[in-house]
Amino acid sequence: METIFQLKDIVTPICEWYGKNHRSMPWRDAPSPYHVWVSEIMLQQTRIEAVKAYYAKFIERLPQIRDLAEISDEELLKLWEGLGYYSRVKNMKKAARLVMEKYDGALPDSYEELKKLPGIGNYTAGAVASIAYRVPAPAVDGNVLRVLMRYLNCEEDIMKMALRHKVERSIMAVIPGDKPGDFNQGIMELGETICIPNGMAKCEQCPIREKCQARIQDRVMELPVKTQKKARKIEKKTVFIPMQGSQVGICKRSDRGLLAGLWEFPWVEGNFTKKILEEYLQEQDISYENIQKLQPVKHIFSHVEWHMNGVYVELDAPAPALTFVTPAELRDAYALPSAFRSFVSVLED
Ligand code: ADE
Repeated sequence: METIFQLKDIVTPICEWYGKNHRSMPWRDAPSPYHVWVSEIMLQQTRIEAVKAYYAKFIERLPQIRDLAEISDEELLKLWEGLGYYSRVKNMKKAARLVMEKYDGALPDSYEELKKLPGIGNYTAGAVASIAYRVPAPAVDGNVLRVLMRYLNCEEDIMKMALRHKVERSIMAVIPGDKPGDFNQGIMELGETICIPNGMAKCEQCPIREKCQARIQDRVMELPVKTQKKARKIEKKTVFIPMQGSQVGICKRSDRGLLAGLWEFPWVEGNFTKKILEEYLQEQDISYENIQKLQPVKHIFSHVEWHMNGVYVELDAPAPALTFVTPAELRDAYALPSAFRSFVSVLED
């Protein structure tokens, strides 16, 4: 028989607490399935406060699923610029197209059907189904795992899929039919505002403190247990900011792999040396008048870190392989990932 965790005692306190204490958010006040979907994907990328501005801009430009299905990749990447994990938004567009073709423009209301769409996994399907359609379905993210592992004083590793599935089954066994979205969001909200990671949890304000086994046994700081991922690979790069008069040269990344289809400054592997610069310019058949080294920049992705030396290079002729744009065009019309954005300030001084 499949085992589950006993969670029935948290249902009423969490729903009541959420009813009184939840924060107002643009996508919460009118939770259409499309709005919930967009917000939940963005919330997987960054903090709630940072999401608000991205969300407003995205919904203003793409008010309906049809608009998402029809937008160009170029403009879509620009809307997502800075949020990272660009494959997520490309999958959203694929899913929007399927929803137009197959579901007449409305996201399906079943957990299982939602999961068939590109980029929609258990968490997102559960969030959309429960919040927008009031369908009882689990939505288990890192916040939910932290709250529940502490409540249960459970030392299982939250990186293990088997544990996540057990938590999903446990939630399904108790989720209230009339308020599945409040219950799911209540646990998440508790994890974000009260049962917080690292720092001190605010146990005195917690609606489930009386039965929280980690609090009772003074183990809150030790939980949840999470195995460390492999150390990230470090890649060293020399990034050129090639200027031709007041325009800067950029190029487009390939359509595959990390940051596919976005724009970037030209770069080569390895720490900056004059030899590296000269080899690069010779290869591109261009020469420079002046160079200036910039502050090094580190950018952290999930599996890799880029350690970048930037070099501002004044060219004496435009490099044929590059597209030259003004700093204003670069800001307004080209999706440049955050890793490279760090160098843009030199253009704006
Ligand atoms: N974090 C991610 N999605 C959330 C939601 N719907 N409510 C509260 N916190 C969240």
